[in-house]
Amino acid sequence: MTNSQDEEFLQLAKDMLNDENFKLLKKDRHHGNTNKYDHCRRVSYLSYKLAKFFNFDYKHIVRPALLHDFFYGERTEKPENSYLEHPKTSVLNAKYYYNIDEEEESIIRTHMFHHVVARKICPLINLKENASIKESMPKSREAWIVCAADMLVAFGEFGKYIVNYNVCLFLLFVINLLTVNR
Ligand SMILES: [Fe+2]
Ligand SMILES: [Fe+2]
Repeated sequence: MTNSQDEEFLQLAKDMLNDENFKLLKKDRHHGNTNKYDHCRRVSYLSYKLAKFFNFDYKHIVRPALLHDFFYGERTEKPENSYLEHPKTSVLNAKYYYNIDEEEESIIRTHMFHHVVARKICPLINLKENASIKESMPKSREAWIVCAADMLVAFGEFGKYIVNYNVCLFLLFVINLLTVNR
């Protein structure tokens, strides 16, 4: 990261990135060959860039994006770490360690909306879990950004990009148009 925007991101993220409780995420393998700390940093950075591009609240998106997967251990280790339970676990941890506000909580809680939709379309995905579309749907433009950024970064980490950056920008542009006057 070299340009001024990236330095701004590091300024916004540095307290969290250097926090000992957050650094424990480096121990947890995530999406194949990466770890949860690096995954959360990538999601936060992409969320920040997209929010800045769309003139959303980019300063307020960095922290909840970093905390969206703030749970300890891998997904299969504990029931509360599962695909659809870990957003709640991340909220509890984020509240305990960092005193998040309601908007940050909502962003973290709804970041797995893409998985809930995939689960509804194809019931064979993640047979043991279920979640309501309504409850899981992002409630703000920033929450949509984090959800989309998480999905894109996860695809990249799995080495399976099926949606490119420009398609994502287009989708987010449409979401912006739909939500800007609400
Ligand atoms: Fe997640
Ligand atoms: Fe994630």
